Amino acid sequence: MTARPAPDAGREASWPRHRMRREREIAIVRRVVGGWKRLGHRVAFVPTMGAIHEGHLGLVRRARASAERVVASIFVNPLQFGPQEDYKRYPRPRARDHALLAGAGVDLLWEPRAQDLYPPGECTRVRVTGLGDVLEGGSRPGHFEGVATVVLKLLHVVEPHLLWMGQKDAQQARLVEQMCRDLHLPVTVRRGATVREPGGLACSSRNLYLDLAQRAQAVGLSRGLASALRALRDGERSAARIIGVVRRVWREYPDLVPDYVSVVDAHTFQPVRRVQSRVLVAVAARVGKTRLIDNLEWGPP
Ligand code: PAJ
Repeated sequence: MTARPAPDAGREASWPRHRMRREREIAIVRRVVGGWKRLGHRVAFVPTMGAIHEGHLGLVRRARASAERVVASIFVNPLQFGPQEDYKRYPRPRARDHALLAGAGVDLLWEPRAQDLYPPGECTRVRVTGLGDVLEGGSRPGHFEGVATVVLKLLHVVEPHLLWMGQKDAQQARLVEQMCRDLHLPVTVRRGATVREPGGLACSSRNLYLDLAQRAQAVGLSRGLASALRALRDGERSAARIIGVVRRVWREYPDLVPDYVSVVDAHTFQPVRRVQSRVLVAVAARVGKTRLIDNLEWGPP
């Protein structure tokens, strides 16, 4: 076992070089993580669907600073894609993913097989009521049932101390937090801030689908949110007017096809009329065939 510096050392260059272990088998993942835990190591887990980008790597770095051992998973989860969605064409650049995750300090990469997570005859599903039915849940029926089910399965195998989720998918993070609480899972859920490209576009695996012209349209999402933030800071408290601010910015992006712009309570995800406590301004839009989401969380001072 390599000696590792204090988890909060935070200086990448000071970490010893180590090989990332890659595994497919559930039993082996359990054995490796179990061994670390018996040594008293804390284990942080970052589940992904691959096509690794800076958003994922940001979570890995946060995970590494929070625990002695970092487990990541790559699994393009069929259960969370609708029948007309991009499951088949979802990018799967494996060699690049491995290099990026190893470089960011993942100790164990688990790449489960679909037939192991969903063997013939398996039929258990997890539904987080309320939270899972609005916004993304409204636009993508069944999506969050797929997310909750797979995250629970992954957690039951890895059994990490810490689970790192991204604020980019705020509703997903909130739903997973609720599931962990409701099912008394012994895991602490942490969130990593949304990582953005220099122009403001939130990093996403689906950005790979965009050509240059489409990227220029996609930045409308974050530009709209930036204007909403300015309005909130200037004292605007009407949800309708904040939504209007975003939609006005979007008119400058003719190929951005809005799905929703919502101002919801950051905890319950129910729409609010006025901003009186922490809210999430959540947006979803399409550019060509690509569906993109983004959000801004804000609370009055
Ligand atoms: P995926 O889209 O690969 O994202 C994996 C994790 O990275 C999620 O927690 C997501 O919120 C986070 N993430 C994505 N883009 C980010 C960004 N720009 N900044 C910060 N974090 C970002 O989300 C999923 O996969 C799946 O639904 C999964 C949870 C793995 C279940 O299948």
